[in-house]
Amino acid sequence: MSYLELKEVSKLFGKLGALQDINLQVNKGDIIGIVGPNGSGKTTLINVISGYYRPTQGTVLFDGKKISGKRPDQIAARGIARTFQSNVLFEGASVVESVMVSSYLQYRTRSWQAFFETRAYKDEHEAVVGRVLELLRMLDLFNDTFMPAEGLSHGYQRMLGIAIAMAANPRVLLLDEPTTGMNHEESMFVVENIRKISEQGVTVILIEHNMKVLLNLATRVVVLNFGYKIAEGKPEEVMNNQEVIDAYLGTEIV
Ligand SMILES: Nc1ncnc2c1ncn2[C@@H]1O[C@H](COP(=O)(O)OP(=O)(O)OP(=O)(O)O)[C@@H](O)[C@H]1O
Ligand SMILES: [Mg+2]
Repeated sequence: MSYLELKEVSKLFGKLGALQDINLQVNKGDIIGIVGPNGSGKTTLINVISGYYRPTQGTVLFDGKKISGKRPDQIAARGIARTFQSNVLFEGASVVESVMVSSYLQYRTRSWQAFFETRAYKDEHEAVVGRVLELLRMLDLFNDTFMPAEGLSHGYQRMLGIAIAMAANPRVLLLDEPTTGMNHEESMFVVENIRKISEQGVTVILIEHNMKVLLNLATRVVVLNFGYKIAEGKPEEVMNNQEVIDAYLGTEIV
């Protein structure tokens, strides 16, 4: 049985089929690249997995249990975190506050324990703070710890989005175009970090337009076109698939 599975999932907006009959099996430890032209359903796929959209038809299973139909917070609590295609910030929050907010989700001790500052709470709080600082270091945000998040450059706001998602300590991370608008060096830094995150045991699904980025990163690539899955395979196989080349009609995919 696969770790995360989509069974005949469709998402309609009126008559528009944003996702049509999608079957997808993701194994633990996979790095799945999702590609496809604009409007092909990539973000809709992430929205359906993370519960932001309910599928019109079909089922999403995670770790053997049905998650489709559950709320985004319920799905997040099971260990699926996501980032957004545009930078989403907590207004007025500093970098560290933004990441801390997300990490509160994983506290196991109760609020009365926090109030009385029990040993269990203190231990857990220390562990969470340690983890947040480690994430800030990993994503090169440590020097900006107390900076207002809105003051970060676009590239660093994207890094912060990843740090916020990772602070929830996910088992599956869904990344919607993490390198968009970044220069080459920043993109390569993100790629390195996705690899590190994967090595920590997190299963990754990422939307990425640049096939070069996926070539050395993705275990498998899935290609969407008009809501349909038109190809799936190793990155180098998919890049040479004629239907995929035709779907991109002139846009550079290599
Ligand atoms: N909430 C919504 N209401 C109506 N239509 C929507 C909604 N969300 C997405 N769509 C439509 O569904 C289709 C797929 O959109 P989606 O955002 O998933 O594409 P995408 O592959 O992520 O594109 P891009 O590369 O531009 O990000 C598009 O035609 C889009 O207009
Ligand atoms: Mg999108």
